[in-house]
Amino acid sequence: MSAHQVLLEAHEVAKHFGGVKALHDVSLTIRRGEIYGLIGPNGAGKTTFFNCLTGLYRNESGHFVFDGVKLAADAPHKAAEIGIARTFQNIRLFGNMTAIENVMVGRHLRTRAGVFGAISRNAATRAEEAAIARRAEELLHYVGIQERAHDYARHLSYGDQRRLEIARALATEPKLLALDEPAAGMNGTETEALRLLVEGICRDGVTVLLIEHDVKLVMGLCGRVAVLDYGEKICEDVPAVVQKDPRVIEAYLGGSVA
Ligand SMILES: Nc1ncnc2c1ncn2[C@@H]1O[C@H](COP(=O)(O)OP(=O)(O)O)[C@@H](O)[C@H]1O
Ligand SMILES: [Mg+2]
Repeated sequence: MSAHQVLLEAHEVAKHFGGVKALHDVSLTIRRGEIYGLIGPNGAGKTTFFNCLTGLYRNESGHFVFDGVKLAADAPHKAAEIGIARTFQNIRLFGNMTAIENVMVGRHLRTRAGVFGAISRNAATRAEEAAIARRAEELLHYVGIQERAHDYARHLSYGDQRRLEIARALATEPKLLALDEPAAGMNGTETEALRLLVEGICRDGVTVLLIEHDVKLVMGLCGRVAVLDYGEKICEDVPAVVQKDPRVIEAYLGGSVA
């Protein structure tokens, strides 16, 4: 695989919490333009992987290379600035802000004036602010919740809140969008809409890293899938192979992975 085809490499990333090895030398490679799935039982280390990747946690050893740049483990990076955006397993929105304001906050990470410049409101920042608002509206439309733009985030349904988080993440114009269980709590209709949205995001040029419990959704969406179990990557392949891997079936306690 040539260097320009690779977007993210994780090299033997390790993270402990006391005696718990949340990540044990996890290595994986994500190619540009793919939807890459990360699955595994509860507590397998999936969210911890996201937290290390996005600089929320510091991995004790190993490192990431993103878009050709090594991310130093000793100097926490700002994920949004280098082109990584994420959503959270436990939705993190500003409940007392409207949907569009939540997206604008994401967008401010990308602009010269920044969040504080936007508050001071001179002529230049006002123009920038108007552009941000227009872009935020487009993004709400893109994820399908434009009619909720001026509702408080906390008044949105669970599924719409998850979409709003995706819109906010996209506002940073990421190269990699990392979704932590985006279908959790969604009904069948919402999950199907989410599937179409993630496919569209990928088609529009954003690489997607997807943590998801809904195995059917993962197997249908992802080009390749890695399986974590007790902090170790036990399998990585195309869905058809992963589903038949005895270690994967074992990790899911013999439960259905199809
Ligand atoms: N902040 C933390 N402090 C202590 N232990 C943690 C913390 N975050 C995760 N862990 C532990 O690390 C392991 C992996 O957790 P997590 O990454 O959340 O798993 P997953 O997302 O796959 O369900 C679990 O044993 C969990 O209890
Ligand atoms: Mg998790």
